[in-house]
Amino acid sequence: MSSIKEVIVNKKTNIKPVWIMRQAGRYLPEFREIRKKNPDFIKLCLNQNLSSEITLQPLKRFNLDAAIIFSDILMVPYGLNQKVEFKKNFGPQLGEINLDKISEIDEIDFVKKVYPVYKAISLVSNDQILKNKSTIGFIGAPWTLLVYMINKQSPKIKLKNDFFKDDFLINRILVILEKFLKVHIKNQIDNGAQVIQIFDSWAGLLEEKDLPNFSYIPTLNLVNFVKSLDVPVICFPRGIKDYKSYCDIVKPNVICIDYEIDPKKIQKEIDIPVQGGMDPKVLLSDKETLKKEIKKYLDIFKDHPYIFNLGHGVLPETDPNMMDYLVKTVKDF
Ligand code: CP3
Repeated sequence: MSSIKEVIVNKKTNIKPVWIMRQAGRYLPEFREIRKKNPDFIKLCLNQNLSSEITLQPLKRFNLDAAIIFSDILMVPYGLNQKVEFKKNFGPQLGEINLDKISEIDEIDFVKKVYPVYKAISLVSNDQILKNKSTIGFIGAPWTLLVYMINKQSPKIKLKNDFFKDDFLINRILVILEKFLKVHIKNQIDNGAQVIQIFDSWAGLLEEKDLPNFSYIPTLNLVNFVKSLDVPVICFPRGIKDYKSYCDIVKPNVICIDYEIDPKKIQKEIDIPVQGGMDPKVLLSDKETLKKEIKKYLDIFKDHPYIFNLGHGVLPETDPNMMDYLVKTVKDF
């Protein structure tokens, strides 16, 4: 069994596996090399040979315990025929939503559009380098995808005032997303994903009263679906303040925490396995500071099933040598 599964399934506390969100990405020169020649990000995600190669790049450099497939949460709106582009120094830009067109899409059309993502997962999970390691598949939570689909770009710090004005549209999209996210999860698992992570990156934008309807319930339905396929699921509801209520209601197998929450409080309140937490900015400091901060998390979670990761994705300006130092420090602890 892979070390990540030992922690999740058998609640082992004597091993501390490590993988990093956005471990394949712009801080790696070998990624930037490929990216330079492939200006269309969606096309790159749909090139199974390149996306599997990119997925494996960090594993060739560092002794990581998992590969996270190089793709994007926005491949689902793309599969639903909403236009998705990634603009330099701006981020994702989505096109208009046509509810009639989206409602017409069937499972076969959707799978055809994103099929190379599944092929890439299959290529990665069959690679020798993944022996005793895990391939992680992922989706964006319905709420976070809804934010991008309606807002059409990253919301940065807050939602537009009229975000909730079209109740009908919002509820229709949530129903459609649930259906196709299940298809997306099932195909990732059928092609070799051994763990699924659900990214609710914009959960923190919701007022407390809206969390049940927009985050807890839609995510719970998907968590139950992943569990029914006998695969563990990690949830990352970034920026919510009350991780305890989230865990009590949504019941993921692992909770991934952001860097704004006090890890000591989490350790006391939550008994399921925990992942992540450290501020990605610490990788921009020096080795001594980095080591101290890594030790802080490993000490707090010494007797708790814990997977080392950051509290959000690795920053593009990170020095790969610092990442190397991080992985070695966790492994030597
Ligand atoms: O973690 C990994 O290594 C796997 C690949 C991965 C990407 N995106 C590749 C990517 C994963 C798991 C994601 C998830 C994702 N995508 C999330 C959830 C995690 C989070 O960051 O909160 C979100 C919100 C997105 C949407 C998205 N994709 C944004 C907002 C951006 C632009 C911002 C940025 O960092 O550039 C992307 C682009 C993106 N997705 C890049 C990568 C490597 C950078 C693209 C580039 O090279 O220009």
